[in-house]
Amino acid sequence: MTNNLTRRDWLVGTSAVAGSMMIANAASAQDMASMTNMGMPISKDNPIRMTNNENPYGINPKAMDVIIKAYKRAHIYNFRARRELTKVIADMENIPEECIAVGAGSSEYLVAAGTLCAVSGGDMVIPEITFGSITRSASALGSKIIQAPMNEDLSISLDSLRKAMTKNTKCVYICNPNNPVPSIVEKTALEQFCLEVSKQAMVVVDEAYYEYVRDDSYSTMAHLIKDNPNIIVLRTASKIHAFANVRIGFAFAHPDTMKKLMAFRSGTSSYPAIMGAVASYKDLDYQKFVIDKNYESLEILYKMFEELNMPYVKAHANFVFANAGRDASEVREKLLESGVLIGRQYAHSPNWIRISTAKPEETQYMVDVYKRDFG
Ligand SMILES: Cc1ncc(COP(=O)(O)O)c(C=O)c1O
Repeated sequence: MTNNLTRRDWLVGTSAVAGSMMIANAASAQDMASMTNMGMPISKDNPIRMTNNENPYGINPKAMDVIIKAYKRAHIYNFRARRELTKVIADMENIPEECIAVGAGSSEYLVAAGTLCAVSGGDMVIPEITFGSITRSASALGSKIIQAPMNEDLSISLDSLRKAMTKNTKCVYICNPNNPVPSIVEKTALEQFCLEVSKQAMVVVDEAYYEYVRDDSYSTMAHLIKDNPNIIVLRTASKIHAFANVRIGFAFAHPDTMKKLMAFRSGTSSYPAIMGAVASYKDLDYQKFVIDKNYESLEILYKMFEELNMPYVKAHANFVFANAGRDASEVREKLLESGVLIGRQYAHSPNWIRISTAKPEETQYMVDVYKRDFG
């Protein structure tokens, strides 16, 4: 393994992964040139993005064609298109259309659910380490946010969520898989928890990374919403479908709950976004391709963690969480010098780094840079 890896070395395929990897490297050099910003080589200003859990392959080309064509009709409102997308999702998830709301990303419904909690005069319980969006509207409007400790392995503890609840708790948020720790909650225990807790409070299950999970102990909670007005399930097209800046997300909820949520949502999604989502959700092959590549990249990262003895959490999503044994901000800055941008530092775990997967060849580049700098 070289200690002097440069971007040029990587691009010409003569560095860390030499020999049999030469051909693969040449291909990846091509990829890198085409995928990065405006075809520019990677650099500090144009890094490989391993920071926001985006899909490195971008939008499905078939969906992209639809989006571009749909702009010709973007002067019209999109009610009928929204019904079409709703039907695609209803068939796929086996839930009634009236239990599905399309939004401009799932954030729209995280804000709405947080608002709903606050206006009902209640507190919110969340895991201590989780995705924070739902708390913003809730706390701004007066909800107390109670953080429940994690299990020792950093996974979500249902017991500690239960213990953290008070008689004033009106909402419990569970992100499954969680973020920034990509762990999952076992399906039977979670279902029981949802049914029990929903007698008192709204349970919001955020399934932003649902499509990536390959573990049999995992299941969506979408089947619970039909008969239970106190359970909301959220999904997004931002991750597997690469719609992060196209903006499509979903809330699954009982029609009575849907009415309440709709009062607080911010707006509508665009016609091109909706039609693109119809095409993207229907193309299972592309989704499988993205998932397979994700798991290839995860293996590359795990190998490095094992080699460097870095504790890490097994990932059920498109990112890893690992203990760098040093200040995460410093690691981030140093990697950026070589054109790799990883996730920000977290106050609760200042030595842990969250790394989103990139394409396998890009992930290998990151690993080579990391080993050179910190190995
Ligand atoms: C767990 C989780 N939920 C929701 C979101 C927001 O997704 P969207 O782009 O659909 O608003 C994210 C984005 O990173 C996320 O990680």
